[in-house]
Formats: sequence, structure tokens, C-alpha cells
Amino acid sequence: EMKNRLIIISNRLPLTIEQNGDEYKLKPSSGGLVSAISSYLQKQGKGSVSEDIWVGYPGCDERLWNNAERPEGSNTDHNFLPVFIDDDTYQHYYDGFSNSLIWPLFHYFPSFAQYDDADFEAYMSANKIFADTLAQHIRHDDMVWIHDYHLMPLAGMLRKRFPWLTIGFFLHIPFPSYELFRVIPKKWQHEILKGIAGANLIGFHTIDYASHFLTSIERVLKVQRDGQHFVWDDRRIKVDAFPISIDFDKFYQAADSPDVAAFRETYTTLKDGKQLIFSVDRLDYTKGLENRLKGYHQFLSDNPDYIGKVVFILVIVPSRDAIDKYAEQKKMIDEYIGNLNSSMGSITWQPVIYHYNSLSFDELIALYTSCDLALITPLRDGMNLVAKEFVASRKDQRGVLILSEMAGAARELTDALQINPNDTAEIATMIKQALEMPEAEQAKRISAMQNCIKHYNVDTWASDFFDNLTATVSHQLNTQPALLD
Ligand code: UDP
Ligand code: G6P
Repeated sequence: EMKNRLIIISNRLPLTIEQNGDEYKLKPSSGGLVSAISSYLQKQGKGSVSEDIWVGYPGCDERLWNNAERPEGSNTDHNFLPVFIDDDTYQHYYDGFSNSLIWPLFHYFPSFAQYDDADFEAYMSANKIFADTLAQHIRHDDMVWIHDYHLMPLAGMLRKRFPWLTIGFFLHIPFPSYELFRVIPKKWQHEILKGIAGANLIGFHTIDYASHFLTSIERVLKVQRDGQHFVWDDRRIKVDAFPISIDFDKFYQAADSPDVAAFRETYTTLKDGKQLIFSVDRLDYTKGLENRLKGYHQFLSDNPDYIGKVVFILVIVPSRDAIDKYAEQKKMIDEYIGNLNSSMGSITWQPVIYHYNSLSFDELIALYTSCDLALITPLRDGMNLVAKEFVASRKDQRGVLILSEMAGAARELTDALQINPNDTAEIATMIKQALEMPEAEQAKRISAMQNCIKHYNVDTWASDFFDNLTATVSHQLNTQPALLD
């Protein structure tokens, strides 16, 4: 139904290069952004030749990208436009400005934030490389959708070259309170906000993030907002909440697949009558892994009856390990699990089974569907798709979700057992309550949450965004025809 070409732009492409000895392979990328956009494009691509283009950094230079082995059955529904960035610039832009300043600050870890002029310069240069690459491919009637905190200046840069281009921007992480945003140098604040304001429509996961953003716009750019809108550079820009979601049917149906069933059988054997707690996260200090382990530890200490009767499969997907704070997080987890297993475990029972690697889709679904409890405790999380995926895969209407109230998903998943992730005693009590929840109540909660995700799935998310983008742009053209001359 959408005629214009859709140009998706994100730092990360759905395939990332990985070195294995002398060999380079393209592997599926991890994380919520890639999951959501891939799901959306896959659904769109079915039955039609898609003209969508996904623009991003492939993790290597041009020669490696062209020669690297493609994974079997990799998504060919859309075209990739790789953006090549030299290693030094990339490191300051990605490890530096994006992940050592914006990520910690926007997730309410101001003490982790590092302020470095060279990082800022590289951040702007990398965004300019994106703009230069795009300038060679963009047509005036393209619909451009820029994603996430790596590319906040990009819309502004494109707007200068293509005044009439339709541009949407979506932030996949929280936008913090102005009290946090204001701590970064003024010049950087300006570049970030002016950059985002190059878009016609600006989307966030929740109304809180949108309203924090509008406050920052008012204070920093000194513009007056009018409800959900503000005017900048003669354009009326809309700001709104679009909670990202998942391909509900894909997860709901997956439980029936024979490949998933095979994995589930393995896990059921491993459970051997014990109750199973499961969690999966990228390695990240925002995910509340230490508190989760402490809460579980306390649960075992408080309820010795459960010793030997429960097991916790903790999966961590490696992420950003070149950054010290991530490496420290990894060390803390390794040590905590080692201590917990040796102090509480025995020769025949380990409280935690720890897997530090990514999972295939079938393994992931098998774990979602064989556990009794999904334990999700981030200190901050823009949305948290894992929570929605777990709920969607429970076609059997069983299982309990414990979810941090600091995750964007907590706004929608009100039938989860919600906890404050800083309260390890509460986590401990909630684990017990979850493991003892009657089946009827499990079914009632899961089904209420499934209704919500079924209704607002990844398609609804994207089409809601596109409808608003189109409306904002046509309103602009209708009300300011003089500007067209
Ligand atoms: N995921 C993944 N690789 C894995 C296991 C999970 O890519 O080995 C996916 C998971 O299915 C989910 C996403 O990673 O879609 C994580 O998204 P979430 O919003 O929970 O957190 P993020 O990693 O984006 O902070
Ligand atoms: C989060 C971010 C994404 C990012 C993902 C994985 O979901 O919002 O932009 O792609 O984490 O992190 P990485 O640094 O590996 O891209």
C-alpha cells in the first residue's frame, strides 16, 4: 500500500561481521532494534518485491564486506547499503560518544558518563559519513526513517541538503529527564536536539520519554511547544509515543514448530521435575543482572525447601565488550555465579546454569516455553522486547513474568508481577510468589498480556508511525504552500 521507497537507517545492520581465525563471517546482529525492524521488513517483504533499503555500518571495510560469507537463509528481502567508517572514527563514535556518554546518561547512569571532545567530533564525523553516503542514493520522494541514539544529528544534516524530504526519527532508548540531559556540554546539547529536530516526526517508546524530550527542546532550543508539536526552522514537528512491539504471530506459532519441540525436550530432561527460571539479556549494566542474582540468592537462602528443586538458566549475549564498564560487568557476573554455585550448590545440583553466547531462534523459543518463570529486572530499559516475546510464545497459557517497573514494557504489561529492581528483597519474595502461582492465575495474566501485544504488534507500531509521519508532512505542505516556491 505504501508507494514510496522506505530507507531505514541505523548504526547496526541486521548482519554483523565476525572474525573467526582467518575467516570472516556475517552473523545475525543482536538487540531489540534489529529484531523489531527485521520482523517488520520480513512481514512486508512477503509476496512482494520490496524496494526497502537498510543503511548501516557492517562492522568492517568494503573489501571484507564484499567477501564475507553470508549466513544460510539470511534475509534477502531488502537491500543493504553499507556505510564504511574508518576504525578510529568508529571507535570514538561508537564505543566513545554513543556508548560511553549517551547510553549511560540516557539510562540514568550519570556517573558512568565520559565527556571527551574527540568522541564528540567523531560522533559528528560519523553522522556526516552517513549523510554523505545517503546523499548519493536518496530520491526526493523517499521516506527516510532514522533509528536510535547513534544517529541523532543525522536528520538535521539531511534536512540541509534535502529540505522537502520526509524524515522520521525514532529513539529506541529512554529520553531522560532534563535534569540529566542538561549535564552534557551546551554545544553538544544543541547539536543533538537540532539534529533530531531535522525530522518531521520524532517517536519514543513512552509518553514520559516524549515529554522529557519536549522539555529539553523548550529549555535548550528556546522554542514554544504546542501540545505534541513544536516549530523549528519553519517546520511544524510532531513528537509522540509509539511503543515498539514484536511479530506476535511468529512467536505465538513458534511453540508448535518441531525444531523448537526438539530443543524443549532437551530442556525438559534437564529440568528433571525442577522448576525453571529463565532470563536472556545482552551483557549490559542497565539490565540489572547483579540485583537479579542477589534476589535469586536471597530467595534460596530464605526458602531452603527450594534448594535442589529449582534451576535458573541465565543467558547473556555478548555485547560491547571493548568498553571497560561492560568488561567489568562480565567479571562481576562470572564471579557472582561462581560464588553462588559453589556456596549454595552441591555435587548433584547447581543453582545457576550460565550461558555466555547468543541463542538461535528455536533455542530461544524452547527456553521461553519450557520455563516456569521469566525473570526480567533491568534498572532501566527503553522497552525490553524479551518480556513481550516471552508472553507471546506462551500459547499454552502457562508461565509467570516478573518484570521491572523501570522497563518501558511495564507500561503495557501491567499483568506481570512488577518489581523495583533495586529492591532485592522484593525480587526474592516475588520469585516465591511466582513459583507458587496457581495455573488459573497464570493463564489469566498471560492471556491479558497477549491480548495487548496481539493488538499492538510490530506492524501496528510501524504503520502508526508512518501514518503520523505522512500526516505531519502533508499538513506541513498544506499550511505552508508559499514555502514550496
Ligand atoms: N536476542 C538476540 N540474540 C540472542 C537472544 C535474544 O538477538 O541470542 C534478541 C531477543 O529475542 C530480543 C532482543 O535480542 O528481540 C533484545 O531486545 P530487548 O529490547 O529486550 O533489549 P536490547 O538488547 O535491545 O537492549
Ligand atoms: C539496543 C540499542 C540498539 C543496538 C542494540 C545492540 O537495543 O537500542 O541500537 O543495536 O542495543 O547493541 P549494539 O551496540 O551491539 O548495536
